[in-house]
Amino acid sequence: MNLIFLGAPGAGKGTQAEKVCDLLKIPAISTGNILREAVKNGTEMGQKAKSYMDAGNLVPDDVIIGIVKERLAQSDCENGFVLDGVPRTVAQAEALDEAGVRIDRVVNIQVEDDAIVRRMSGRRVCSDCGASYHTDYKPSKIDGVCDKCGGKLVIRKDDQESIVKDRLQVYHDLTEPLIAYYEKKGVLKTVIGQERVEDTSELVRRALGV
Ligand code: AP5
Ligand code: ZN
Repeated sequence: MNLIFLGAPGAGKGTQAEKVCDLLKIPAISTGNILREAVKNGTEMGQKAKSYMDAGNLVPDDVIIGIVKERLAQSDCENGFVLDGVPRTVAQAEALDEAGVRIDRVVNIQVEDDAIVRRMSGRRVCSDCGASYHTDYKPSKIDGVCDKCGGKLVIRKDDQESIVKDRLQVYHDLTEPLIAYYEKKGVLKTVIGQERVEDTSELVRRALGV
């Protein structure tokens, strides 16, 4: 199945994508994770992306479209994939269509803005593998240490409250129009992401029929 997970920053796209990908044995493609890796490695793309990301703005469409096309061409995407955090603008969605990328379902995870701001303050991410945790809702077994790779857990620069508010504004202005875009194509399913992680997972599975 070829899937897109849509939603505001912190709606739980990454959390839910990981579960669906484990279940369906397909890769999750997170442009956010790919960009953070590029920033960490100091590549040319990373250097270009860093200032946009730190400020909570979107990285230019041409950079994102290049990343996604390259990733989708890899052999592990043949049996399906989850696009997590991409597309994020109508131009990105149109570029996927133009590239002939078939999308079976778009899961729109809906969470109110004030719940997002509260949630982001507890997020911790692994500085090595990018795995995501939450101090209250998904704590690591050892405080500050990644369960998966032993890496150090850190607070993302763009999770500061003022930047989260800017990211939410960017979401409403540029990404929310994708709800109507995919609704029109008849592939959209909206799930409430406000409750516990497991409750949302159940709704996502039902929406996908898996
Ligand atoms: P990206 O990494 O994609 O960030 P985002 O969309 O803002 O989404 P997040 O990763 O913040 O949230 P999420 O929805 O995955 O939530 P998560 O599962 O982690 O992008 C970062 C930046 O890169 C962008 O700002 C932009 O600059 C750039 N970028 C990336 N893609 C781009 C694109 N396509 N175009 C242009 N620029 C792009 O959950 C959040 C926290 O809440 C976690 O701690 C989690 O444990 C917890 N949590 C999850 N679900 C629940 C729940 N139900 N209850 C309680 N806690 C929960
Ligand atoms: Zn890790």
